[in-house]
Amino acid sequence: MPDLDQILNRISSQMHDSDDWGEVAGYIPELADIDPAQFGIAVATAEGDLHAAGDAEIPFSVQSITKVFTLAIALGRAGDQLWQRVGREPSGRAFNSIVQLEQEQGRPRNPFINAGAIVTTDEVLGNRPPREALAEIVQFVRSAAGSDDIHINDAVAASETAFGNRNFALAHFLASCGNLKNPPALTLGTYFHHCALEMTVRELAMAGRFLVDAPGLPRLVSPTRIRRLNALMLTCGHYDGSGDFAYRVGLPGKSGVGGGILAIVPGRASIAVWSPGLNRYGNSQKGTEALARLARAMDWSVF
Ligand code: DON
Repeated sequence: MPDLDQILNRISSQMHDSDDWGEVAGYIPELADIDPAQFGIAVATAEGDLHAAGDAEIPFSVQSITKVFTLAIALGRAGDQLWQRVGREPSGRAFNSIVQLEQEQGRPRNPFINAGAIVTTDEVLGNRPPREALAEIVQFVRSAAGSDDIHINDAVAASETAFGNRNFALAHFLASCGNLKNPPALTLGTYFHHCALEMTVRELAMAGRFLVDAPGLPRLVSPTRIRRLNALMLTCGHYDGSGDFAYRVGLPGKSGVGGGILAIVPGRASIAVWSPGLNRYGNSQKGTEALARLARAMDWSVF
């Protein structure tokens, strides 16, 4: 078994070799001023170890990575009925694209593009107050991570709400097609808040263990569901960059515009990387590069 600490330290220092960090997400003002030249990585193994390097103690906004947790909860509540409201195909379009939603009569292509995640959030919300749904989401993430010290950053949620015209457009279009059970503002309030969860890479790697499926790790959903969540992460987790990510990294992964990526090595490990500069698909530039290097060094791949 290669020395994981040595590999993570080497990759972390290599990430600082070039200045090509990508661009931080500018459309959420609260996230726009973050220094892109940061990098952290952590790996939680099936054996129960946690290895980390770089900026592993800095909390960051996990954003779309929470869509995996809300999907797991939505499937727990609705079962396969959920697929009547949202599809399971890659969209081939940007995460916040509108055009496909009209072409496909308000049924989003998959649960990871914004429109699809608004639908899964609406399912998790059900007919209870948003704070109850958010408490369930936060509790799910805390149980997966084995830590009570994980919180929502209300300033980030408020910042996104104030500048969330695109998501409001998506939610109102979904509502016009009869694909929202709650008023758009209520569902979106819940969505913006769960996207504003903050974690360090250590916490996120720990939280991802529920997707690894190995003895001794948190078992929050069935093995069949774990496989299916991983399948969706592989095919849709990086939006119109999903094919490129599968080609370069070869693992199921979910990105967020905060610059985080959660990647899963089934049966072996959960990996979290963070570097806030994004590539043209809105996925962490150095995070993707680091995962490609780690997968190669460890010979980790689902193929
Ligand atoms: O709805 C949004 O635009 C953000 N809260 C989440 C988008 C996101 O993280 C896309 N990921 N790369």
